[in-house]
This record gives sequence, C-alpha cells and structure tokens, in this order.
Amino acid sequence: MVTLAREARELAHAPYSGFKVGAALKTRAGEIVTGCNLENASYGLTMCAERVAVFKAVSEGLSDFEAIVVVADSKQLTAPCGPCRQILWEFCGDILVHMSNSKGRTRVMRLRDLLPLPFDGRSL
Ligand code: THU
Repeated sequence: MVTLAREARELAHAPYSGFKVGAALKTRAGEIVTGCNLENASYGLTMCAERVAVFKAVSEGLSDFEAIVVVADSKQLTAPCGPCRQILWEFCGDILVHMSNSKGRTRVMRLRDLLPLPFDGRSL
C-alpha cells in the first residue's frame, strides 16, 4: 500500500504548494484505490489525496474500508486535514490511518483518535 501511495503521489498536481501527497485506501476484501492531491489556480478548489481516493472508491461501488495510507515527502508525517477526517469518517468509519514519509518514518492511528467526538448521521 505504501508503494502504491508513493506511485500515486507522483501523479499529484501541486504546482502552487509544491507539496505532493499520495494515498492508498484498502477495503477489507483487499481492493486498493489510490489518490493524489489535485490543486487548482482557484486555491480553494484543491482536493486532497485522501478525498480523491475515498471519492474514487465510493463512486466505483466499493465499501467496507479497513485502512488508508498517506504519504508525503516532508520531515514531519502528514496527517489527514480536518475536512478529510470528516469525509473519511462518513465513508470509512473508524479505519486505520497509516502516515508515512520518504525517510521511512511511519505512524498508525485510528481515525476515532484523529477525530474525537465526530459529527455524523447519528447526530442528526
Ligand atoms: N494535502 C493533502 O493532499 N492531504 C493532506 O493530508 C494534507 C494536505 C494537500 C492539499 C494541498 O494540495 C497541499 O497538500 C498543501 O496543503
């Protein structure tokens, strides 16, 4: 998964920030869908790698996700941003979030620890 996320990262369109991110999302059945960040000259339209992977997977009919890997080239590990945590919670629930950088540093956390007290369908 880390290798696939790294390959996806190479496809990132990040001319404005120069910060390329790759993601790989895995179902319990073993399917893997990747994503990369896609920036826009209208900055706010930028889509993060994690959300690209989730939207690709869900729109292809996949569900029951187990884990996501997020890779960047930064010294510090890259954790999903706030909106991505919310989207991941909606479609993936309490999955494992693996963060990895090019130096081989890795950390894994559960999404519930990255998004405590989530707002979701049960709140409505
Ligand atoms: N970005 C991601 O793709 N995922 C993250 O987890 C953090 C941020 C992207 C958005 C933008 O293209 C660039 O990184 C800098 O914020």
